[in-house]
Amino acid sequence: MSRAAARRRARRAILYIGRADRGEAWARITRAEAPDLEVRVFPDIGEPEEIAYLAAWTIPPGLIARLPNLRAVFSVGAGVDQLDVAAIPPALPLTRMIEPGLVSDIAGYAAMAALMLQRRIPDYLEQARSGTWHPLPAPPTAETPAGVLGLGVLGQAAAGALSRFGFPVLGWSRTPRQIPGIACCAGVDGLDTLLARSRILICLLPLTRETRGILNGTVFARLPRGAGLVNLGRGGHLEEADLLAALDSGQLSAAVLDVFETEPLPPTHPFWTHPRIIVTPHIGAVTTNEGGIAALLANIRRFECGERPEGEIDRARGY
Ligand code: NAP
Ligand code: GLV
Repeated sequence: MSRAAARRRARRAILYIGRADRGEAWARITRAEAPDLEVRVFPDIGEPEEIAYLAAWTIPPGLIARLPNLRAVFSVGAGVDQLDVAAIPPALPLTRMIEPGLVSDIAGYAAMAALMLQRRIPDYLEQARSGTWHPLPAPPTAETPAGVLGLGVLGQAAAGALSRFGFPVLGWSRTPRQIPGIACCAGVDGLDTLLARSRILICLLPLTRETRGILNGTVFARLPRGAGLVNLGRGGHLEEADLLAALDSGQLSAAVLDVFETEPLPPTHPFWTHPRIIVTPHIGAVTTNEGGIAALLANIRRFECGERPEGEIDRARGY
């Protein structure tokens, strides 16, 4: 090994781009747990040739070209669409985040949102504005089938949480799956089966060419009248005008939305004031400091041992 190569091997830096507090925590934990690696927090790159790994939510244009020894890119989130995958050279492996904090957060949010819709919380929020005390009938969870779009790491966690609260759960994936307690369906025909029964529809799909705009008027029309919607995937999954039309017509009764085409949601956006829409600021699941760096370091170890990192993206599939 040349001296330069040996020096590079000894100083393998991870360039982190994202929330500063997480970067500082990841740098501190890495110093203690993996002293052969070093986390640098963007924009403090140091010597660009020492950067072997990039861990980012989004990547500034032109940055990758300045990192001659970059070996792999890691998304700090479960999704990768926000990274502009097309701008990452195909030779660089790209991996998404899989860590226990994301899983438990999503399970909790999905259960919370489904229960809010089943217990008619949007009606009570409206009543509260006029000081109205008026209990409403609500079918039990056992009579409220919930359909989960996406049966990956997070979709399965959501499905499990919904089952534990007694919702009959249907799930949809691209390839057929068998999951105990979940009525699984796949492909275009499978989607119709799920939609026909789902009183609550929860999106936990990755944003790809195939899934962009999937939450649209045609799909809403196939749901039972008065169904509720939860979007935990990405804003690009939802046709916003179609949602407003479906709420106005009563085809949908309410929506709980965590992700938006434009984030932050602009102050004048109609979703903010719509009486049937609950907005949260993309907090459905947030990568934790401890779980996130443990998953990242474990994946770098796998990569350096010649194993496949967990959550490696198949670029042809888009997720
Ligand atoms: P994942 O493990 O890759 O699972 C993706 C699932 O979607 C798989 O079941 C896959 O089917 C299915 N799928 C993909 N394309 C499809 C298609 N065209 N038709 C039908 N099913 C399709 O992903 P994950 O970790 O569960 O994360 C899912 C998404 O959640 C992320 O990409 C991100 O957008 C979103 N997310 C949001 C938040 C938030 O805070 N709101 C937090 C984390 C993640 P197969 O099983 O056949 O592969
Ligand atoms: C958050 O949206 C994520 O992809 O982790």
